[in-house]
Amino acid sequence: MKRILIVGARGMLGKDLTALLRSSSGAEIFAWDIEEIDIRVEKETIAKIEALHPEVVFHLAAFTQVDACESEVQKAFAVNAEGTKHVALGAVRCGAKVVFLSTDYVFGGEKKAPYREDDPPRPLNVYGQSKWQGEQYLQHLTEDALIVRTQWLYGKFGSNFVTAILRQAKEKEELRIVADQTGSPTYTVDLARALSALTWQNFRGVYHVANSGSCTWYEFGRTILQRVGRSEVRVVPVSSEEIHRPARRPSFSVLSCQKLKERAGLTLRSWQEALEDYLTSLGTDLTPCDKGT
Ligand SMILES: NC(=O)c1ccc[n+]([C@@H]2O[C@H](COP(=O)([O-])OP(=O)(O)OC[C@H]3O[C@@H](n4cnc5c(N)ncnc54)[C@H](OP(=O)(O)O)[C@@H]3O)[C@@H](O)[C@H]2O)c1
Repeated sequence: MKRILIVGARGMLGKDLTALLRSSSGAEIFAWDIEEIDIRVEKETIAKIEALHPEVVFHLAAFTQVDACESEVQKAFAVNAEGTKHVALGAVRCGAKVVFLSTDYVFGGEKKAPYREDDPPRPLNVYGQSKWQGEQYLQHLTEDALIVRTQWLYGKFGSNFVTAILRQAKEKEELRIVADQTGSPTYTVDLARALSALTWQNFRGVYHVANSGSCTWYEFGRTILQRVGRSEVRVVPVSSEEIHRPARRPSFSVLSCQKLKERAGLTLRSWQEALEDYLTSLGTDLTPCDKGT
């Protein structure tokens, strides 16, 4: 039986991917997170992966708090860059393919048209810089790597923009939401399906994967409120400058998924359809699940 290792398996995307692969792949799935493997520790990471001898390593583990990365620079690079190098070294020892999740924040936002895989990265924040370095390590260390850049994730198993809006709508009469950043909200369930399809068809290189269409955070927020019948909540569009967050973010980071369409025949559904499904899955109380195990 094939062995598949998921590192970062108890994160938001990791839980959906683990469930999908357990129900559909017919492989033996090893779902590891920081309790089983701390990817910052080189020797242990390499030894554990080598001992398990998987055919595929899905590397989802990351320090994903974009603002915290600005003040915890060392940790950001230790996890997102060096950690990725350690995972790659372990995978190379046993000839495993690595599927690495990267981000739209490798781009600077100056393009004003959807970013293609071969557009030059210019990360504006520490998180983006550390993920970009992780990409480079991986590409340098192995040819059998699939790097999937995605963006604006939400899912049932983690705190995210949708859950933040739903929570704030219960507490406040007015929400202030950034209106000068544009991207594509992406549902982890849809992303997990695409990751699985790309992996089984043995794709390599860099691919952009996101739900179709784009919007600003402001438009996303308003749509969420409309869909849950809370249109009466006042939403004020604000600029990134006004909210003073530690990390700079690109004003435009829509990912072109044309390569995914042309090479793999895949197009993810619109972000509005995916959002509808997600909200339905949250049920009547619209409260996301805790992280748990
Ligand atoms: N969320 C987004 O909008 C977004 C956008 C683009 C790309 N991505 C990428 O997609 C992937 C999945 O994102 P996500 O939102 O599902 O992330 P997530 O929920 O934060 O999950 C990441 C997991 O990695 C674990 N982890 C952190 N440091 C680790 C270490 N040193 N060793 C082993 N595990 C460690 C985390 O554990 P703790 O929670 O205990 O730290 C967490 O369970 C990440 O690679 C991320 O960079 C995410």
